[in-house]
Amino acid sequence: MAELTTLELLRMKEKGERIVALTCYDALFARLLDASGIDILLVGDSVNQVLGGAASTLSATLDQMIYHTRIVRRGVERALVVCDMPFLTYQVTPEEAIRNCGRALQETGCHAIKLEGGQPMAATVRRLVDVGIPVMGHIGLTPQSVHALGGYRVQGREGAQAERLKADAKALEDAGAFAIVLELIPAPLASQITKALTIPTIGIGAGPACDGQVLVLHDMLGLNDRFSAKFVKRYAALAEDVREAAKLFAAEVREGRYPGPEHSFEK
Ligand code: KIV
Repeated sequence: MAELTTLELLRMKEKGERIVALTCYDALFARLLDASGIDILLVGDSVNQVLGGAASTLSATLDQMIYHTRIVRRGVERALVVCDMPFLTYQVTPEEAIRNCGRALQETGCHAIKLEGGQPMAATVRRLVDVGIPVMGHIGLTPQSVHALGGYRVQGREGAQAERLKADAKALEDAGAFAIVLELIPAPLASQITKALTIPTIGIGAGPACDGQVLVLHDMLGLNDRFSAKFVKRYAALAEDVREAAKLFAAEVREGRYPGPEHSFEK
């Protein structure tokens, strides 16, 4: 099966074909999602919260992201695998960003990295692209800035903030980013940004006009049932399935019904 490339994503936008992305943190889910035709597997630093139980993404480390990206890559034949760069691995200097993003690319086999931020990150994005590291941008609600933004809130509701987000998107495109995640911004603003760019926008809580959509896998599967948000649609209720299966196993073990003869070896 041919691997999806960043160029193919551009062509999909040109042809009006929607891009489908999900977060993924391990080889098992990567295999299932890849076989389901998901275009982009984003190894998000949300792994720190979803699997790691942390309160935010801020404590995610480069080693952690490299580990998860490497194992996701093992499960993939077609999808584009993107490694999310954790806090402070790309903001300090462009040189550090090249070293850390280069490490992610080199040690995981991923196809691209993602970093958060607009105009202030444009020069770094340009440097990364110039050395051959494909970059996905991320603006709007940028979770690594949760404390500066005053919480997980919709961004760009006021005029000046909306104008800044439009300029951020343009700056990332001009710097060579191949796509931009738009997180938690009003749908009309996401639509304007999407129309103004030649590169695809991938929305999460940004309405239907984006060129693609991404959700956190464990949210859309109903596996992380402690988290709910207006933009999350649950396509399954796996947390309930897991609890039920675990209770059934416990009851059968306690009652001596598992293992039965069919699960046992006579010799
Ligand atoms: O870390 C993550 O999962 C993300 C997506 C929500 C876009 O950045």
